[in-house]
Amino acid sequence: MRGTKKYSHVIDTPDPGKWELAGYESTLPITEKSNPITRELDRADPGQIVQLLRDCDAEIFQEEDQALVNYQRLYSEMVLKTMMDIIGKVQEVLKEPENTLIVLSGGGASGRMAFLMAVSFNKLLKGLGQPPQYTYLIAGGDRCLVASQEGHEDSALLGIEDLNKVCEGKKKVIFFGISCGLSAPYVAGQLDFCMNNLDIYTPVLVGFNPVSMARSEKIEGFHSSFRQVAERMEKLQETHQAFVLNPAVGPEGVAGSSRMKGGSATKILLETLLLAAHKTVSKDGEVSEKCLLEILRTYERAHKVTYSQSKKIAALVKQAGTSLQKKAYVYLVGWHTLGIIAIMDGAECVPTFGADLNDVRGFLIGDRSEMFNREADLVAQGPKFAFSEEDFVKSILPSLTEQDTVLFLFTMDDNLAEVEKLAIQVKERTSNIHALSHATVGQYLPASLKKLIPSIISITWPILFLEYEGNFIQRFQRELSTKWILNTVSTGAHVLKGKILRNYMVDLRVSNAKLFERAVAILQRFTGDTRAKCREALLQVVYHPEQLSQELRAAPVSKHVARATDQVQVVPTALLCLLRHCAVPEARARLDAAPSLRAALDAALSAPGRKRGPDQPQPEEQRT
Ligand code: F6P
Repeated sequence: MRGTKKYSHVIDTPDPGKWELAGYESTLPITEKSNPITRELDRADPGQIVQLLRDCDAEIFQEEDQALVNYQRLYSEMVLKTMMDIIGKVQEVLKEPENTLIVLSGGGASGRMAFLMAVSFNKLLKGLGQPPQYTYLIAGGDRCLVASQEGHEDSALLGIEDLNKVCEGKKKVIFFGISCGLSAPYVAGQLDFCMNNLDIYTPVLVGFNPVSMARSEKIEGFHSSFRQVAERMEKLQETHQAFVLNPAVGPEGVAGSSRMKGGSATKILLETLLLAAHKTVSKDGEVSEKCLLEILRTYERAHKVTYSQSKKIAALVKQAGTSLQKKAYVYLVGWHTLGIIAIMDGAECVPTFGADLNDVRGFLIGDRSEMFNREADLVAQGPKFAFSEEDFVKSILPSLTEQDTVLFLFTMDDNLAEVEKLAIQVKERTSNIHALSHATVGQYLPASLKKLIPSIISITWPILFLEYEGNFIQRFQRELSTKWILNTVSTGAHVLKGKILRNYMVDLRVSNAKLFERAVAILQRFTGDTRAKCREALLQVVYHPEQLSQELRAAPVSKHVARATDQVQVVPTALLCLLRHCAVPEARARLDAAPSLRAALDAALSAPGRKRGPDQPQPEEQRT
């Protein structure tokens, strides 16, 4: 621990990581770098997995280190100042509910987080007797809230179209464009549109890379790259017409998995900012740094409280891992907003781990009226979009087996009789039922429920005596705590299933341009081969058995993505082709024959004749 910390931290924030050094994986933005903490994640046991991911999450709260490269961090002066400037703008809109709107938008996990926060703050307003002032946008629309469809985030024009629709007739709009990697074209298009219409829009870019690391490739079908859009935003920040909120929170525990720290940090940043705006708007006072720090510290506290349950979380990781290893399923059943967190967690496993739809799947129990923009796009739309209590009871319950893991997520303020009723139904099919429950000091689980679900992680939070808005902090803490636990359980379970190599999502779905680039980078990382060679190997797998023509090689990335999206094990197959110098059918056969994906890849990496170990740094010139 350094002695220069500005604040007394609630958790022991770690010392700066090696990733902050100038030369560390210098061609990659922070959000794509591999985290030195989790270098051996694939060999960790459940207890170690929890510890490693806990330490990665703690980096969110780490302060900047003057002695190093000097990335802005959550507690940096500039970040707090930007937050206060944005709060001023939000307050203007809150004071004038007529014809104004606060839009939160993103692709994939960022869009789902936008949805969650819009739901929360509209609820806060409702409690004050005020009309909703928040809305959300997710690339691909409401269906993508519950099912992963990554391709939509590649369209800048779709982003603009969606934004235009929800803002029709509005006189003032605060737009929060969330892209953890400063990369999603959907968000870039929207920010650009806002900057062209500053009389109405105040755009805010939220992400976790410096602008100099924003994605630099020109966006297909659009005039700029994300970086150019972000640079224009930075320029406009000088006159307070646009804002960039982008503290570094360190690389993800699984490289590039921005649903984890990126999603959590988005929640922490934006809820802090919006809550502070709501708390102070009626008092006509400027928000103070102290107010922001107080809220931020409650999230730090949530980290400490959550991971004090590490042993029990590890047991759950083991259980979920066993289910996946046996080709059974992990169902996450959450009440109210904890159900949204459950859905988010499950949906992201598909692109991240190449998981099947049901491998990890979330369900939302409870009232969902006024939540969605277009509920009709979701309800009764078939098994792919199943997410509700009815769906769980009708299509999951009857087929549950002893091998499946069911995890209930609720607070002691939820209807416990309802929880009990559903638990009884689950127990008729499987004894493998677990729970995460949140209580406030003085609340106790009924004995009947404890008997039904003996394996419960029960987290007790201190009583907070706060005014109306302040009480939402408790709700936010519980959500984040649930998110941390679910991220750890689903990631850990996939690690145990052998879906991770070192700390790389080596079986990701190649379902959008960013994931295509990540796939190429992963191949380079493990082979040391040139980018051109790795790209070629990837395309060979994607188009197999077709021969690659020059025309095909030169086709836009969107064409490759369209072809690859529904294919499985594309990256592992390409990696084996490169490592073993073999053809696609042989690589596939080797994958099929191996006990796990990691086992197949590990064997190839340590095969005689391979000189370069995967952990040796690659010379810079080989990366291009
Ligand atoms: O498309 C895949 C993905 O990486 C998701 O996993 C992620 O949630 C989404 O893109 C959005 O990423 P970002 O917030 O960096 O735009």
